Amino acid sequence: MALSTGHNRVRTAVFISGTGSNLKSLIKFSKSKKSPISVNLIISNNPKAKGLDYAKKFKIKKKVLNLKNKNLSENKLLYILKKNNIEIICLAGFMKILSKNFIKKFKGKILNIHPSILPKYKGLNTHKRALNNKEKYSGCTVHFVNSKLDSGKIILQKKVKIAKNETETSLAKKILVQEHKIYPKAILKVFNL
Ligand code: GRF
Repeated sequence: MALSTGHNRVRTAVFISGTGSNLKSLIKFSKSKKSPISVNLIISNNPKAKGLDYAKKFKIKKKVLNLKNKNLSENKLLYILKKNNIEIICLAGFMKILSKNFIKKFKGKILNIHPSILPKYKGLNTHKRALNNKEKYSGCTVHFVNSKLDSGKIILQKKVKIAKNETETSLAKKILVQEHKIYPKAILKVFNL
């Protein structure tokens, strides 16, 4: 992706549904000197998402949209993104699937983080499935979003070793630490920095 005009940071929206620890890591990164992005908008489909607290804490605009009526909500969402001059979208623990039409409108401009080494374990319950299959490694992936779930072009991955006594919780925690590192790195990579 080419950086847009001048030295302005690329206006970014982060979509969340829950805790928002990846959102927090992206906000922190966006405030660093080297960041090509600024986080200007937080979108949540869940009014109770803990991550929404970061909007207040960091004085970032937020919008909650339930996305139950997909067409209607996505049109509203597109309007909000346009109004806020959003250029790229980072999905961070966002549990809704965006429509093909929406993705087309932001083609090549939506990134996602997924807690597995894709193409293995697309979808939900990644840690449980990795443990059940007695995998030696798991990890996380940042990828571009296309119309197929967790299948877009991979930007960056990080492997973690699964310990003998690993549980779903311990694995999730271990992987999350790496997620917080690779999402900013993937953004730098996308902008050839
Ligand atoms: C992360 O593991 C992310 O990869 C997955 O959902 C989790 C969200 O965590 N899609 P958080 O809300 O960023 O803390």
